[in-house]
Amino acid sequence: MSRRSIARMLPPRALAAGVLGIALTLTAAPVSAAPAPVLPLASTASPAPAGISAAATSSLITRTPKGLLRERLRNTRARFAARFVYIPGVPKFNRLVDHELRAAIHLSKQSYRPQAFPRGAGLGDRGCVADSTKWSAKRVLARAATAPPGKRGAAVTCEVRSASGSVIQVAMRTVRGSQRRVVHDTTRLYYADVKTGAAGRVLKSKLWHSFAPKSLWTVTVKRLIAASGAEVPASLADPSPSQLRIATHALIHSTRTSSGGIWADLGAGITSPELRALGIAKTKEATPVRVSHATADRWSRKLGVLLRHSAGKRFVGVKQPVSKVQLDCRLLPCVALTYDDGPGPYTARLLRTLRAKHARATFFMVGSRVPGNEAILRRAVKDGHELGSHTMDHADLTMRSLSSARSDVRRAAKAITAASHREVRLFRPPYGAIDDRIIRAVDMPAILWSVDTNDWREPGRAALIERSVPVVDPGGIILFHDIHVDSVAVAGRVVLGLRDRGFELVTVSQLFDGKVPLGRIAARY
Ligand code: NI
Repeated sequence: MSRRSIARMLPPRALAAGVLGIALTLTAAPVSAAPAPVLPLASTASPAPAGISAAATSSLITRTPKGLLRERLRNTRARFAARFVYIPGVPKFNRLVDHELRAAIHLSKQSYRPQAFPRGAGLGDRGCVADSTKWSAKRVLARAATAPPGKRGAAVTCEVRSASGSVIQVAMRTVRGSQRRVVHDTTRLYYADVKTGAAGRVLKSKLWHSFAPKSLWTVTVKRLIAASGAEVPASLADPSPSQLRIATHALIHSTRTSSGGIWADLGAGITSPELRALGIAKTKEATPVRVSHATADRWSRKLGVLLRHSAGKRFVGVKQPVSKVQLDCRLLPCVALTYDDGPGPYTARLLRTLRAKHARATFFMVGSRVPGNEAILRRAVKDGHELGSHTMDHADLTMRSLSSARSDVRRAAKAITAASHREVRLFRPPYGAIDDRIIRAVDMPAILWSVDTNDWREPGRAALIERSVPVVDPGGIILFHDIHVDSVAVAGRVVLGLRDRGFELVTVSQLFDGKVPLGRIAARY
């Protein structure tokens, strides 16, 4: 069927609008069998599909929204590197991210253990990399921002595709291979709803009910019949599988209209017995069809409705702090900063520094110093830090009777719990003086350290950094005292230095994934 022959069947106004490229408007109401008021010109006057990309669900945003926890992971043995984000308040999304990372690590077929790198590794630069899901696979394996060690192995990278309404969509790409050969390259799209905590994979074909392609096809054919001026039959013969494929493809690649409906571009080749009876063999060009908001909702599954309703809206923002994200220290190289003997005159300053850097630490506090400092304790808990007992008066527990040692540690724990509204589960013996009998009597893990900065000897700020940042291993516990001004003054640089080496800063309990074993604990590994 030629363009001229269909032109004969159409009124001049429709012809002016461009016969086969015309936009049809569908509504929620059942399609009328009566000859339709032909080809509403209003819809052809409205923006063409290309013009609505700003509101489309697929619109790309290159800036990561505020409040996400930007991450990076690197491992030589597993030949693995990853850039990713966690979303505070959506643990389900974060578990999907961890699963994606583990799957990529598994590709290496090597046993895995978290690793940190020497200073100057540059791993403090974290989070998604703009455009990296569109780079060539070899570029992902070669660029310093994303490459695995030695530029071969597995690389995971991410891109925030959209953040609108309450929904964030993040694409995660896994590439494996070398500069000579790429053996694996997949990109998966995930969504997270910061309001409901829902999360999952976005499969564009699963956003629609199974009946949607047939409905779209039927309405399109009826409109083409109406556009020809013929009477529209009440029902049509069922579409062939190839006709349904055209409609399915149009739905998957549809874009959102500003009013919440969709534009679906049905490819050339639409045909039906009814059209053929009218002398219309097959459409030769794409037929853009506009589907109303209500109809699109009826055709959509739940996730499809959520994505379309949130699209184009202002992002509501991440409400939970990044400290709420549960980090897996079997996957990430974790380290615990600990501060003893406070609260003191510099504790509030230290909290401000750690808050600005989104870093978590553990404070072993002296019970007698708690009164008058309750607000500082509450602030520490609110910022995601952990508090532990350091006895009432900083006594050497090994010089006490068992019952007095036990009550000393427990009284301080009680005072800290009362002030902070958070149960204390750990203690640190002053001077590290402890034995197994005391641990059993106290019945709490005794937290020691793997790195002693000796900050109480006042070695100076540069020395404090040298004694902490370069020497700690994954799973390590670093000892500082927040009653020394130099220790507090270098905290920001210590945090940045550790992150540069690839570390995650966690509390002692997080270092053990919430299950600190009873006993004398100096490090995780
Ligand atoms: Ni102490």
